[in-house]
Amino acid sequence: MTLKEKYKDYFQIGAAVSGETLKKHGALISAHFNSITCTNSMKFSSVRPTVNKTNFNEADEIAAYAKEHNMSLRGHTLVWHNQTPDWVFESANREILLHRMKEHIHIMADRYREVATCWDVVNEAIDDKNNFILRPSKWTTIIGEDFIEEAFREAKKALPKTDLFYNDYNETDPIKSKKIYEYIKNLKQNDVPIDGIGMQAHYSIVHPALDELKRAIELYASLGVKIHITEMDVSMFHFEDHSRMDAPTTEMVREQVRAYKEFFEVFRYYKDVIESVSLWGVTDETSWLNYFPVFERKNWPLLFHDDERPKEAYYSIMDF
Ligand code: GLA
Repeated sequence: MTLKEKYKDYFQIGAAVSGETLKKHGALISAHFNSITCTNSMKFSSVRPTVNKTNFNEADEIAAYAKEHNMSLRGHTLVWHNQTPDWVFESANREILLHRMKEHIHIMADRYREVATCWDVVNEAIDDKNNFILRPSKWTTIIGEDFIEEAFREAKKALPKTDLFYNDYNETDPIKSKKIYEYIKNLKQNDVPIDGIGMQAHYSIVHPALDELKRAIELYASLGVKIHITEMDVSMFHFEDHSRMDAPTTEMVREQVRAYKEFFEVFRYYKDVIESVSLWGVTDETSWLNYFPVFERKNWPLLFHDDERPKEAYYSIMDF
């Protein structure tokens, strides 16, 4: 039995992929997952790196793969403070930047209309701990705080039938989750068309506490939106731990098994509001956590070994 078969009565199971991952692990991916996301290929800087240059090759390839294998494609992402090329903000006032933002939304919406079942319209706009709500960025400085609602309204015009998501990390943190909740609540009260919240779920063997995870899910669900777990991985290291090792210790493997098992128990419990759970990668080999927060420090945060063998963590979420 594969992941997507095991979870068919619960939620979709997704993975973030690149063109490279698809080439290398295509058979494994279509066997286990019924949803995919592009790790980088649909980001602004990938598809429209300069004013005159576009590059949709890899994104198109991944979209075609999704279509061919009858998978959902989570579009990721339209408006973000990272991986957006400088030209977008160059000599821009509010009007110019709004125009560029909306134009980009339409270009992406049109190109992937047939295959993207949802889009992360705005990514990571809420500030983590500071006293202000929104993260200061070129979007807030040049357009103003309403860039978020402008983005959602435009995306809905372009894609009336596609689910539109707000996606963020540290989404179980008590302070930040409250801010996300209040912000989205306010948008919804003003009829801003937002259909879902993406909980990135960059977790670790020590984080987050299960009661914080449950509380965050309940808080978001109370807004009447769909929930997607969008970028899950479970780091073997505490965020502050910068040590390196050749292989995880037995204890670390055991803790990862426990963590995956418990997180998925929570997800299954909330299956009525959680529509999809995506991992941020397929095998440990290409995880971004091999570069962050410690550069070229091997981590083992996913469900498959480098050579595609399922890990113990994999079995822990298949055993129920
Ligand atoms: C964020 C973004 C993703 C990706 C990850 C790290 O969470 O939403 O697109 O860049 O960071 O790889």
